[in-house]
Amino acid sequence: MRTIAFYSLKGGVGKTAAAVNIAYLASQAGVSTLLWDLDPQGASSWYLAGTEDVSGHKLSALIKGKSPIAEFIHQSEYPNLEFIPSHTSFRNLDVRLEQSDSNNLIKEWLAPLSEDTSLVILDCPPSLSRLSEQVLKASDATFVPVIPTWLSLNSWNQLQAFATDKKLKPSRLHPFYSLADRRKSLHRELIDAREKHLPSGLRTIIPNASVVEKMGEKGAPVERLAPASIAADAYRRLWQEIRGIIG
Ligand SMILES: Nc1ncnc2c1ncn2[C@@H]1O[C@H](COP(=O)(O)OP(=O)(O)OP(=O)(O)O)[C@@H](O)[C@H]1O
Ligand SMILES: [Mg+2]
Repeated sequence: MRTIAFYSLKGGVGKTAAAVNIAYLASQAGVSTLLWDLDPQGASSWYLAGTEDVSGHKLSALIKGKSPIAEFIHQSEYPNLEFIPSHTSFRNLDVRLEQSDSNNLIKEWLAPLSEDTSLVILDCPPSLSRLSEQVLKASDATFVPVIPTWLSLNSWNQLQAFATDKKLKPSRLHPFYSLADRRKSLHRELIDAREKHLPSGLRTIIPNASVVEKMGEKGAPVERLAPASIAADAYRRLWQEIRGIIG
């Protein structure tokens, strides 16, 4: 079982959009995939729930060991794709992790799933916290969307410094440009100077595209909504790159 995360300390950069699209593409490639929505906003749960009325489990049941993680899992409407919906109590996850003796509860919770699940994808809330630390530790690779702006690049640099400081293997962090809009001169400038600003970044650039926003309205991944679109092609290339990295 491989675990990857979509993570950034900056909000609204395309973590959830990438997590859902990559989870779908992985499942379509025959990889049994589990998307865990760790964000109390519950966006990725909402994308995957379809018409099902899902309400996630309270965090306390997991923390106290009352319920095994398998009880938290829902089947999505797509084969090979399961998800753990968020719950508003996940807003306390950080405090609970602080209080725990274990320095990697996320990894411990996931361990029993390894027989049936090949890929776990963690969709994380934007923060730099105990949760981020554990997510970075539990993941074989962490993918970080970066909007081509100075502020977003600055967040990326902060994350690298945090990983180095906490001895979290910065080489497992993989940034990629997201929400890129070539009509904006700053975006063009930072994309063209990618080797300088994002030297360890992935090749794929996720464009700013209205079809990605439509995911919310239609409750489906881009590959289902508009497979011939530039955005769908970008997510397919992102999945190929991720696949190459996690092996
Ligand atoms: N490539 C894209 N093109 C256009 N809109 C996008 C794209 N990616 C994401 N969006 C839109 O931008 C908003 C934020 O995207 P998303 O929820 O994926 O970001 P996030 O990093 O997960 O945010 P948060 O930090 O709040 O969890 C959403 O409204 C989404 O529809
Ligand atoms: Mg999100």
